[in-house]
Amino acid sequence: MHIHVITIDGPSGSGKGTLAAKVAQHYGYHLLDSGALYRLLGLSLRNKNLLNQLDEKMTDCVEIARQLDIQFIANPNEGIQILLEGQDVTLVIRSEEIGACASKVAAIPELRTALLQRQHDFAQAPGLIADGRDMGTVVFKEAIAKIYLTASAQSRAERRVKQLQAMGLDAKIDAILANIEDRDRRDMERSVAPLKPAEDAFLIDSSLLNIEQVFEMMIQYIDSKLA
Ligand code: DC
Repeated sequence: MHIHVITIDGPSGSGKGTLAAKVAQHYGYHLLDSGALYRLLGLSLRNKNLLNQLDEKMTDCVEIARQLDIQFIANPNEGIQILLEGQDVTLVIRSEEIGACASKVAAIPELRTALLQRQHDFAQAPGLIADGRDMGTVVFKEAIAKIYLTASAQSRAERRVKQLQAMGLDAKIDAILANIEDRDRRDMERSVAPLKPAEDAFLIDSSLLNIEQVFEMMIQYIDSKLA
C-alpha cells in the first residue's frame, strides 16, 4: 500500500501543532512532531551533561541520538504521552528551558542527520502528517502535499499572551514579541535546514484566520492532492 506523507512546516506559534494533530485525526494518519524529537534529544544530552561539550563528545552524542529510547503513546482523550527511557516527559519537554536545549541541538548538522532515520520510520501506512521546520524541504522531499503555515510575529505574540493569561500567568507582549522575532531569525538564518517554504509548498498565513478556517483550507488542499 502506498504511504501518503503530508508535511506542515512553519515558525513556532503559527498553530502548526494543533492543526497537524487535527489533520492527522481527520485522515486517520500517523503524526510526527519532529520538534519533540529535538526536545527529547536536548533533554537527554542535558541529563548526561553533554550539552556543553557537544564538539568534544560529538561521536557519543551522535550515538545517543541514534539510540534514543523514546515512545509516543496515543491516548484517545489526553493527546500523546511521551516517554524518554521509560520516564514520562510529556510536560517537561515543553518548558522554555528544554526548548533552548532543543534549539542548540537543532543547529548541529551531525545531530540532525542522526535523527533522519528516526523521522523516516514514522512514515507508515496509511499515511503520515509530519510537523516541523524542514519536513517538506529536507526530511520528506517527496511528500504528496506540503503546507507552509505562517502568521505575523505580532499575531503569534498576541496568541501566546492569551495562552499564558488563560493559564493564570503574567505575560508582557513586548518581551514575548522580541523572543519570537529572535527565534525566527535563528531558525531562518541557520546554515543547516533553515526554516523556509519548500518550492512546491502551499502557503497559508493564519494571522487573520481561526483554527477552523485554516483547517478547512488545509483539508481542501490535501484532498485535491490525494484525488
Ligand atoms: O517546534 P518546537 O518548538 O517543538 O521545536 C523545538 C526546536 O527544534 C526549535 O528550536 C526548532 C527545532 N526544530 C528543527 O530545527 N527542525 C524541526 N523539524 C523541528 C524543530
